[in-house]
Amino acid sequence: MKLLEGKKGIITGALDEKSIAWKVALKAREHGASFTLSNAPVALRMGTIQELGRLCDAQIISADATSLDDIKNLYNKSIEILGGKLDFVLHSIGMSPNVRKGKVYTDLNYDFYLKTLDISAVSFHKMIQTAYQMDCINEWGSFTALSYIAAQRVFPDYGDMADAKALLESIARSFGYHFGKFKKVRVNTISQSPTITTAGSGVKGFDVFHEFAAKMSPLGNAPAEACADFCIFLFSDLSRFITMQNLYHDGGFSNVGVDPSVLVGN
Ligand code: NAI
Repeated sequence: MKLLEGKKGIITGALDEKSIAWKVALKAREHGASFTLSNAPVALRMGTIQELGRLCDAQIISADATSLDDIKNLYNKSIEILGGKLDFVLHSIGMSPNVRKGKVYTDLNYDFYLKTLDISAVSFHKMIQTAYQMDCINEWGSFTALSYIAAQRVFPDYGDMADAKALLESIARSFGYHFGKFKKVRVNTISQSPTITTAGSGVKGFDVFHEFAAKMSPLGNAPAEACADFCIFLFSDLSRFITMQNLYHDGGFSNVGVDPSVLVGN
């Protein structure tokens, strides 16, 4: 069954074949969607997105997600290439200069902090607001961004990304209201299990909490391919009354208090 037949969209954040967005693009193609791919100029130079473009028959548009001009250009070009208004947008973008440079939460560089928030959260607002003002999304369209449970619980090494994810989820709620009223467009975040990707592995101690989460989750960690399936569902008409939600896609991790089998000696 093809869930996205005739639908048009934009998929951001595919850097290499480990990226969650990479898997989403392959599945979206399988499900009959046509879309453009986008990433920051530096990622286009360093990553392997051109290969994904060939695999999905998708054109690639360079856009720094913090730049309103780049975002406008991304929408204009996508509409021209795809031949009409859009049905779905994936925001799969995250980066913290503090985390990257080993600056812990108690010793943040505030210029970096603002960059973290701009790249990882405010860019979602910028993408949604630009589309809202351009009125370039079809009714029942769907915006989806990727979040992490550090928005609700403390994961000390996740640093300022935790604050960015809290803001990201809040933007989905707040803008989901306005876009829902305006055009029945939906806005959600998916709170995904730790996943081995370039962004994920950049967090100190990632291997430990990846393994810990796998043990604590009754179903184990949700893999990137399953996250892609969930994104396809959210882009599709099957989920048309889901909006303003942060949806856990984590094998049950978020609702487990204690799992005796994880304790040493059990
Ligand atoms: P990834 O490193 O493959 O993707 C992150 C993407 O953000 C890259 O393609 C990068 O080029 C892009 N990016 C960074 N700065 C940008 C900018 N200024 N403009 C446009 N794009 C920019 O890693 P992954 O894991 O696929 O990350 C995708 C999303 O999933 C991120 O929001 C991440 O925080 C989130 N996530 C990841 C988890 C994990 O454990 N890997 C868990 C939960 C959420």
